[in-house]
Amino acid sequence: MSVDVRGRIVQPTPDTIREAAEIIRDGGLVAFPTETVYGLGANALSPEAVRKIFLAKGRPGDNPLIMHVGSISDAAKYAEINHAAETLMLNFWPGPLTIVLASYPNVPRETRAGLDTVGIRFPLNTVAMELIRAAGVPIAAPSANRSGRPSPTTAQAVFDDLGDNIDLIIDGGETNVGLESTVVDATADAVAILRPGGVTREMLAPFVDVMEDEHDELKFRSPGTHHRHYAPSVPVWLWGGGVPDEALSEAVMGRKWSYVGMSDFPCDISEPIEKILFESVPEYGHGLFAALRALEKGGADTIVAQLPPNTGLGCAVCDRLRRAAGVA
Ligand code: TXA
Ligand code: MG
Repeated sequence: MSVDVRGRIVQPTPDTIREAAEIIRDGGLVAFPTETVYGLGANALSPEAVRKIFLAKGRPGDNPLIMHVGSISDAAKYAEINHAAETLMLNFWPGPLTIVLASYPNVPRETRAGLDTVGIRFPLNTVAMELIRAAGVPIAAPSANRSGRPSPTTAQAVFDDLGDNIDLIIDGGETNVGLESTVVDATADAVAILRPGGVTREMLAPFVDVMEDEHDELKFRSPGTHHRHYAPSVPVWLWGGGVPDEALSEAVMGRKWSYVGMSDFPCDISEPIEKILFESVPEYGHGLFAALRALEKGGADTIVAQLPPNTGLGCAVCDRLRRAAGVA
């Protein structure tokens, strides 16, 4: 059997996990499922391997990667774990929470894009855990999409964006959360949310001091948040963010527009060519990226998306929608 077919999609078995771990150790790229979105993994301790991630994604060099580990004690090998970080790890790991900490020098500069901090996460997904354990090294992994595109929540979406650039894609089915992890900076006394995600502000607050506002200054501490992101190839208009219904209706007039949201958009001028409705905010989060990809594939030249209430998991959905629309 040929093993040099790029972008091969395989089911997770002891054999394919072993093969994937070997590819990682040899400096190659493996896409794998996590509970949030699919990651594009490489050996986090190898500068050459990490450079391949940036090349494959077309990722700006100033955007650091998250290091995925399989235990709290592994995390302690690569970063200084203070009291807040330890509290977060004990309460939210494994899970969709990335913790930014002061890095030890053994993490290559390439992995952290020259910063003196490193983002670490222990994912809650059996395939990811088995892969990390089998590889025996921490795995650097950004979302496995072409830079700027919606994150992939299926192996097929990974293949569509990056197939030719990856050695192996492990198919773990649809991801659970559907949105990327929450990124928090835990280097100071009060924890700062750099990117909202599956672990909400409301969930963090009972355990640690969470900085109140998402100051603009925070965005510059997380380089990834000021690049354009999560965008399908067609324009996205937001409903529920201040644009009057009439103005939105006019914007889509004469267009092949599609709709995603939680309740029907009352457009009395034209009908969407396709619409996807979710019954709850978690379902919206779970299905948002796949919906954007599906509507784009379905031939829409404009997408209208409804903003959910900006609390709890809704914060993360609103954040991704604003970026997809280019207004964040
Ligand atoms: O759920 C997730 O987090 C997924 C899965 C694969 O784990 N990964 C992911 O990675 O979304 P990526 O690279 O697409 O997004 C990571 C975010 C970026 O906004 C990046 O700037 C930020 O985390 N980040 C990583 N290391 C950082 C650091 N040292 N300081 C500040 N921000 C950091
Ligand atoms: Mg990403």
